[in-house]
Amino acid sequence: MVKVAVIGGDGIGPEVIGAGVRVMRAAAKNDPSLDLDFTDFSWGCEYYLEHGRMMSEDALDTLAEFDTIYLGAVGWPTVPDHVSLWGLLLPIRRVFDQYINLRPTRLLAGVKSPLAKPGDLDITVVRENTEGEYSDSGGRIYKGTEHEIAVQESIFTRRGVERVVRYAYETAKERQGNLVGATKSNGISITMPFFDEIFREVGEEYPDVKASLMHADALAARLVLSPESFDVVVGSNLFGDLLSEITAAISGAIGIAPSANLNPDGRYPSLFEPIHGSAPDIAGQGVANPSGAIWAASMLLEHNGHPAAGGRILVALEKTLQSGVKTRDLGGEASTEELTSAVIENLGGAG
Ligand code: IPM
Ligand code: MN
Repeated sequence: MVKVAVIGGDGIGPEVIGAGVRVMRAAAKNDPSLDLDFTDFSWGCEYYLEHGRMMSEDALDTLAEFDTIYLGAVGWPTVPDHVSLWGLLLPIRRVFDQYINLRPTRLLAGVKSPLAKPGDLDITVVRENTEGEYSDSGGRIYKGTEHEIAVQESIFTRRGVERVVRYAYETAKERQGNLVGATKSNGISITMPFFDEIFREVGEEYPDVKASLMHADALAARLVLSPESFDVVVGSNLFGDLLSEITAAISGAIGIAPSANLNPDGRYPSLFEPIHGSAPDIAGQGVANPSGAIWAASMLLEHNGHPAAGGRILVALEKTLQSGVKTRDLGGEASTEELTSAVIENLGGAG
């Protein structure tokens, strides 16, 4: 049995996660080996306004008992973003040592990219997920005065860089054998040359992977201009965040792309979520694109020992989009519910 902790979260989170859970349940109906057990947790900004914290006090201990976590989105205008995110998603990533954030994007059949031609875009971003620029080391002094200072340190550890870079080389080896490392050693003169050094060192173990380093600004431009030239991109926490939003957007819409927060050694549960946020502007209207959440569900099953079921979900999603059932962000008129039902139908079942 796969025990799944479900955190819908804020805004469109619960809507798209509800869609993904329906799809997973439908997949389980057709597959006797797939036994899923879902438990809902109503944590998020509403919970915060009531309890003064984003999750219950024992949340991390509770979540540790699950095989995996399925999350919608975190963030709502009534709570500052750094408070909501550092109260829920970011501690989960760090305490559960989910040091890989894997973000595949492909131009799915039936989806129009603003930039790429079909067949041109199949990129996996491997993002560091536990250190780097996302650090709570630092502080502010002389608050409110004209001498106020804010310092926030980027943390790059040999272990942290090595393991994410190694994971990226392994990923490239399984794919087209092409890896680009996102650096910025021209401007950021301490941590980035360190990153580059380790990237090259680890690369010596992978003579079959064609690897190169590219400054993240030029890389951003090249992702837009020639997405077909990329296979796997690895970057620090912040660069991986920015670059994966570009790959998601040029694959049609950020509503499509999934994000797997992996603890590869399996000591802790991994977390699966869509790349997009809580989208307060369209929350509660039933029009959010559930594709990213459904693709994340496919990755969740794959990671938890059910690659065939995960694969079937992605095929059903692609078939649905190809048939023209699309949400507004993709130029269609389908509601969240309609797209989800079409995916379930294409999975060959009622759900
Ligand atoms: C993401 C999100 C988060 C991040 C935010 C909400 C903290 O943008 O998962 O990409 O930057 O990691
Ligand atoms: Mn992001």
